[in-house]
Amino acid sequence: MIKIAPSILASDFCKLGAEVSEIAAAGADWLHVDVMDGLFVPNISVGFPVIKSLRKSTGMFLDVHLMIEKPLRYAESFCQTGADLVNVHVEADTEENIRAALAAIRGQGKKTGVTIKPHTPAEAILPFVDCVDLVLVMTVEPGFGGQSFMEDQLPKIKRVRELLSQYAPGCDLEVDGGVDEHTAPLCVQAGANVLVAGSAVFGKADRAAAIRSIRHNP
Ligand code: DX5
Ligand code: ZN
Repeated sequence: MIKIAPSILASDFCKLGAEVSEIAAAGADWLHVDVMDGLFVPNISVGFPVIKSLRKSTGMFLDVHLMIEKPLRYAESFCQTGADLVNVHVEADTEENIRAALAAIRGQGKKTGVTIKPHTPAEAILPFVDCVDLVLVMTVEPGFGGQSFMEDQLPKIKRVRELLSQYAPGCDLEVDGGVDEHTAPLCVQAGANVLVAGSAVFGKADRAAAIRSIRHNP
């Protein structure tokens, strides 16, 4: 079963509540929230107040993607603010501190994810496969929505799926960046089962049709 996780980065923040209600009714499975600190990536997005408001207004599964340096500092707070799953980048700190962040997230009873950037090899997930529920493969350089899908990441998605089959068979494999009705089938063929889509959902007038075409395009 493929899950579609629209990214609110591409939504109209002036009417965020209505945007979220609309995509929930349109069949979205998860809500993807991109948190950027202006250090790990050259952009700043949203943080605790927005997640707190989202938590109050929706029952949707909140998939929080932390693009921040040293996520251990804030991992527990994101759980307490309302995240259901917290994704941390393997590049954002030492292996020891990333493992500590994942343990802190699990300690709060939430799901864990590790994320790898386009230039990070698939094998970089190996130190964490015993403590994650999801691996996120970036198919754009993190920091901005609306970029083109990097097709050269497809072999890596496939390799991550192989590694997960071997070491963590129950783990979800999520793809983020430039996913639309054309690139989604390539991701699914490579082994992904959770698809983040920002512009391809919020950029369309008919969100239900957009979600359907990403989910079902052969
Ligand atoms: C990029 C973010 C993505 C982004 C996806 O740093 O992690 O979640 O919002 O946007 P699209 O689908 O427009 O590439
Ligand atoms: Zn993201």
